[in-house]
Amino acid sequence: MERIFHYSQSTMAAMNNLISLTRKPRISRPRSKSMAVAPIGWVAFTLFIFCVSARAQLASTPVMGWNSWNHFGRNVTAADVRAAADAMVSSGMRDAGYLYVNIDDGWQGTRDAEGNIRGNENFPDMKALADYVHSKGLRLGIYSSPGSRTCAGFEGSFGHEEQDARTYAAWGVDYLKYDLCSFRINLAEQADDITPNQRAALQQSGGDPRAVQAVLSRISQTYSLKQIAMMKDAYEKMHRALAATGRPIVYSLCQYGLGDVWQWGASVGGNLWRTGGDIRDNYPSMSAIGFGQLDIARYAGPGHWNDPDMLEIGNGGMSADEYRTHMSLWAILAAPLLAGNDLSRMTPETLAILANRDVIAVDQDALGRQGDRVWASKAEEIWTRPLSDGSVAIGVFNRGVESVTVKLPFSSLGLHGTPIARDLWAGRELGRLQNGYSLTVPRHGVVMLRVTP
Ligand code: GLA
Repeated sequence: MERIFHYSQSTMAAMNNLISLTRKPRISRPRSKSMAVAPIGWVAFTLFIFCVSARAQLASTPVMGWNSWNHFGRNVTAADVRAAADAMVSSGMRDAGYLYVNIDDGWQGTRDAEGNIRGNENFPDMKALADYVHSKGLRLGIYSSPGSRTCAGFEGSFGHEEQDARTYAAWGVDYLKYDLCSFRINLAEQADDITPNQRAALQQSGGDPRAVQAVLSRISQTYSLKQIAMMKDAYEKMHRALAATGRPIVYSLCQYGLGDVWQWGASVGGNLWRTGGDIRDNYPSMSAIGFGQLDIARYAGPGHWNDPDMLEIGNGGMSADEYRTHMSLWAILAAPLLAGNDLSRMTPETLAILANRDVIAVDQDALGRQGDRVWASKAEEIWTRPLSDGSVAIGVFNRGVESVTVKLPFSSLGLHGTPIARDLWAGRELGRLQNGYSLTVPRHGVVMLRVTP
């Protein structure tokens, strides 16, 4: 059933047509069923397999790369993006799997007379930038909104979806993050529970993101089915526009988890979707997001991933142990790994966290199963993720402020006998573990193991 999430609505519609074709003979001409149904059934089945494999080629494992927002914000420039691409290569991160160099909000200028979007003065030549990034063996990502304004107040794609998709493809863009932002005004205008005054305030805010936020925060908004349908349509619209270009473009939905997006993100073409609000470079923010990703693992899989937001590793607001918690948790969650620091000024410690091959191998595991929490006691939590070779990634986390000793609860972890373990942050084999094995976890830290039964 989970595979159903691979389909776009149009593909589903085509499938449904085929399936209903196969049903008709059953009712009207039951005797010809085996002859008539079998070939059509095979066509449907073949289409099913074709669509699954075509979609799974994009983001068949969680995307890895870099995004400008967490460090550079709205002031990012083409030079920053080129420097990130250079550093991705020289640091060895590209060879460790980081591939996408993603420009977030802040690149957009005005539209020309024909309505074509252009880069602003910080991005004078998008095509040349894409060529440069590609010349490094990397891919380029970009950012827009289904609303008329992005969250930082730049030009969005509302009313220009097909045109923008064509422009991105012509530039050589490989990834689009599509951020709800001012489309919330469009949704709010449809809400039944806002007063005429609030409606007027929304209209007056004219797409200015801060004014919109202020108004929306005063409105108690639970999104209605109608609003969620509008949101889905807006995302599906851009998906169709991207698909029509013929260029494989990873599609990242950013709408902060509204309307339980994990239940429908893949059906509107999303390869990943944010599951909540914006991460900040501090432990309370990162840990609330990371440890909050409970019970949604079944919605993730090859081609379609839950996205708890980009990495803050190396931005300076957390300790090394806290950043190791960040990286470990994201790997167990099969989360996209989008570094958010200044790659051109990384400390060796930051690089060692971001480029730990054992931890990356967990994130990129071919089975594509997201992990979940299996055990918790006071401030300690254990999260596990099943891996394709039959081993299990185990993260023993300490959310408390004192270091603790944790005895591995073998039965909760499904461990029997004396499994073989590797400590992924220490980078050493631990040999065979005995039932009752204890380990010490620093404050806000983690011990991450790969255990083979
Ligand atoms: C929203 C998103 C962030 C970032 C900013 C840019 O807040 O959630 O990830 O893209 O917009 O304005």
